Amino acid sequence: MSQRTFSIIKPDAVRKGDTAAILAEISKAGFKLLAIKKIVLTKKQAEGFYYVHAERPFFGELTDFMSSGVIYPMVLEKDNAIADFRKLMGATNPAQAEEGTIRKQFASSIGENAIHGSDAEETAAFEIGYFFAGYELK
Ligand code: PPS
Repeated sequence: MSQRTFSIIKPDAVRKGDTAAILAEISKAGFKLLAIKKIVLTKKQAEGFYYVHAERPFFGELTDFMSSGVIYPMVLEKDNAIADFRKLMGATNPAQAEEGTIRKQFASSIGENAIHGSDAEETAAFEIGYFFAGYELK
């Protein structure tokens, strides 16, 4: 059944000029790009997005990084989108990511790992709503 997931092309990938190549991988894997925008988050906005990780030791580093430059938040649609996109991204740590995954190709470290993807339906709903209004998803 068709499902939506949420993704972000992170500041490291944007700075390296990999945005178009990553979008091409996503398209090649069968995802429809329903909405995308270009923004720079404030530190507070990044903290709000990652609130579930507030107690983790890397929270400061993660939110500094995610507010350090342009990002491309986007909504993607496909059958089984959430699980399939996690597979396409590869492991959080690119050293453990499988060949052919986005992180294997474009990420440099566990902190600067090129792309984000929702891990469950509830998270996808929260994350889509954090960046997009309903009228932007028609
Ligand atoms: S996941 O995807 O939630 O299972 O991954 P997890 O390992 O729990 O990591 C959650 C997000 O934190 C980022 N992360 C880090 N940032 C900086 N330093 C370190 N050491 C680190 N470890 C994990 C990781 O990239 C995840 O970001 P998102 O945007 O959710 O992919």
